[in-house]
Amino acid sequence: MPISTYDDAMRRARELAERGPRTGENPQVGCVLVDDAGVIVAEGWHRGAGTLHAEVDALSKVESARGLTAVVTLEPCNHTGRTGPCAQALIDAGVTRVVYSLDDPGQKSRGGAETLRAAGVESVSGVLSGEGYHLVERWLTANRLGRPWVTAKWGSSLDGRTAATDGTSQWITSAESRTYIHLLRSQHDTIAIGTGTAIADNPSLTARTADGNLFPNHPLAVVIGDTPLPAGSGLWSHPRGVLQESGPLVEILERLYNIGIRSLFLEGGPRLMNSFIREGLVDEYVVCLAPILLGGDKTATGDLGIGTLVDARRLTVTSTEVMGGTIVVTAREAH
Ligand SMILES: NC(=O)c1ccc[n+]([C@@H]2O[C@H](COP(=O)([O-])OP(=O)(O)OC[C@H]3O[C@@H](n4cnc5c(N)ncnc54)[C@H](OP(=O)(O)O)[C@@H]3O)[C@@H](O)[C@H]2O)c1
Repeated sequence: MPISTYDDAMRRARELAERGPRTGENPQVGCVLVDDAGVIVAEGWHRGAGTLHAEVDALSKVESARGLTAVVTLEPCNHTGRTGPCAQALIDAGVTRVVYSLDDPGQKSRGGAETLRAAGVESVSGVLSGEGYHLVERWLTANRLGRPWVTAKWGSSLDGRTAATDGTSQWITSAESRTYIHLLRSQHDTIAIGTGTAIADNPSLTARTADGNLFPNHPLAVVIGDTPLPAGSGLWSHPRGVLQESGPLVEILERLYNIGIRSLFLEGGPRLMNSFIREGLVDEYVVCLAPILLGGDKTATGDLGIGTLVDARRLTVTSTEVMGGTIVVTAREAH
């Protein structure tokens, strides 16, 4: 049977995957079970760490899966965590074929396809793998690097200044772009700032919808630096709580990874941002450029250690959008 036979089923599995949370320790995964005629007989998706995996969710919806094909967005896992291995569940259920999009590179979870093949279940990978990559990109990167995916965000004037010379910086960018930033915050496990910004701005670091309500699954607040957060800081009443971390950034990120954090939204200030960039710890940049000029020395980053143009950090722009007059540029590091 040609591999394209399963394209429509894979697209449906992808839609189901998107119902799951974008944040948390586990990736978004969807699964459909199809019969020999290609008709979908059951659907499943993963609702976050500690809940049923997509394959087991789909299997729970049929009396018997004997002879069916499972179409899954990610290679079925091979390890026992809070739930059992999906590869074994598919074998036990009598599925004859498993078709999936992307290989699972996880140290503990990979190898599901081999387990399936060893048990005589046909296993086909790579179906529409390009289309579904965005679903698991952060998770794949975090697992590969052993640290959370880092999105760095700042707002600046067109000439790259984040504050006027007297330090005033609220608000440089448009209300529309700030609403968008709240949405992005809600799609990360944590929002992080340095102690400098925590003390100077006393920010709330919340993620709110346009009508002012908190997004569900609210991200944790993380303040980086040695200076204790003042007793009067609004962050003490943060809806998810605040964590203060200090020490080398690589070690802080490793500790966050070890408590299940897979994505971090870094909001400055300039000194902390500079260190993250210099140390190669940023995966994506979201820069909100307001149509104003400020001049002065309050630049978004400091010395990045780049002495000559050939050493420039070259990024790939993935989107540009104008929101209420502010240009929002999203760009990626290549690593
Ligand atoms: N326009 C924007 O997008 C934007 C965003 C954020 C902030 N701001 C503005 O930026 C100003 C504050 O900036 P800032 O640069 O002073 O503060 P910051 O970057 O928020 O904090 C700097 C502090 O972070 C701690 N830190 C811990 N590890 C670090 C590391 N590896 N590298 C650098 N710092 C580390 C240090 O504090 P300890 O001594 O406590 O260890 C350091 O003094 C405020 O005026 C704020 O309004 C603007």
